[in-house]
Amino acid sequence: MLTLGIMTLNLENEQGYFTEMAKRAEKYNITCFRFIPSDINPQSEMIRGEEFDCNQEIWKHKLFPLPSILYDRCFYGEDFHSKQCKAIVDWLKTKKSVQFLGYGLPNKHKLYEALSRTSLAPYLPKTVKITSSEMVQQLCQKMKRVILKPINGSQGNGIYLIEKTDKFWKVKTDKTEYQATRSFANEMQLINWLDRLLHKKEFLLQPYLPLINEFNQPFDIRSLLQKTELEEWSIVGKGIRTGKINGIISNLSAGASVSDFDSWIKTIPFQKRAFINDEINDILENLPLILEQFFPPLFELGVDIGMAEDYSLWILDINSKPGRKVVLHSLPELSDYLYESPLLYANTLLKRSQLTHEKTLSD
Ligand SMILES: Nc1ncnc2c1ncn2[C@@H]1O[C@H](COP(=O)(O)OP(=O)(O)O)[C@@H](O)[C@H]1O
Ligand SMILES: [Mg+2]
Repeated sequence: MLTLGIMTLNLENEQGYFTEMAKRAEKYNITCFRFIPSDINPQSEMIRGEEFDCNQEIWKHKLFPLPSILYDRCFYGEDFHSKQCKAIVDWLKTKKSVQFLGYGLPNKHKLYEALSRTSLAPYLPKTVKITSSEMVQQLCQKMKRVILKPINGSQGNGIYLIEKTDKFWKVKTDKTEYQATRSFANEMQLINWLDRLLHKKEFLLQPYLPLINEFNQPFDIRSLLQKTELEEWSIVGKGIRTGKINGIISNLSAGASVSDFDSWIKTIPFQKRAFINDEINDILENLPLILEQFFPPLFELGVDIGMAEDYSLWILDINSKPGRKVVLHSLPELSDYLYESPLLYANTLLKRSQLTHEKTLSD
């Protein structure tokens, strides 16, 4: 019997996803557990978490040893519990007795550094790690509009557009309900504000690109990539996220709406359509293979691609713990597959490790 442990920071998170997955596990001879990394006893390595009972279709409290395969769905913040769990997950990744479905990705800056040395470099907005407030002020003076984003990504939170106009420095950020704007009359005021912001966390700076549609709404193409049971990458689905008029970001947390990719691509002038479609698919086919040359194996990726007014494409963000909302909303027929794919891949990993084990024994 294969044991699959789903790790989360809170047992209330992603209830629907985990339960629907667990309901389908029995037919693959998999038992599903879910737990919080900090609930592992470091001495005994026993875990106080929950096991899914397939007959009653409910999660039940249980004390169990480390499952053989782990599915990491921990979304970290800046708080103590996140830091504690991240350290435990990093320790688990070094253990030979457990395998992760995917080993995750480093922060946005490390990703940029790796990818900027590959064939995907032309699709990356120029990115620098911010080391001082003065650096932001100087780059903004030069580029007129820059975007600041937390190095660790936070689902659209903490993204700032800074604009230099003749008289002012303007800072804008999208909240769920509204856009917050502040103006600074001089450099000193801006620098004071930046000092406080940069004190909280690390940020990256990029040129602000006009990734907007004809209605001045920011939008992007959100794709879900996963490995199949044959260990080949597949583009599971693509959807379009469209933010608010005059907004900055196209994250769902900022109130963006979802629509389907096929209808969107038809809005692109006919002469350009096939070319853009091919270019998007090219990026999505190459990206996971390139990432796995730099980083440990992955199972799934959420990729955000922006398109500027001049039809140029930009890789904005790559998530190794992607949400499923965009794909489920635009392609609901995929829902069954999305609940099964982690189980199928877990099975593949198990078979592979058994084969390696048998080979080692017969060597
Ligand atoms: N350089 C940029 N220029 C213009 N808009 C951007 C830029 N970078 C990101 N955005 C917008 O902000 C959104 C969030 O940025 P992203 O890097 O994906 O951060 P997060 O990790 O918070 O999702 C993007 O989906 C896009 O709409
Ligand atoms: Mg993003």
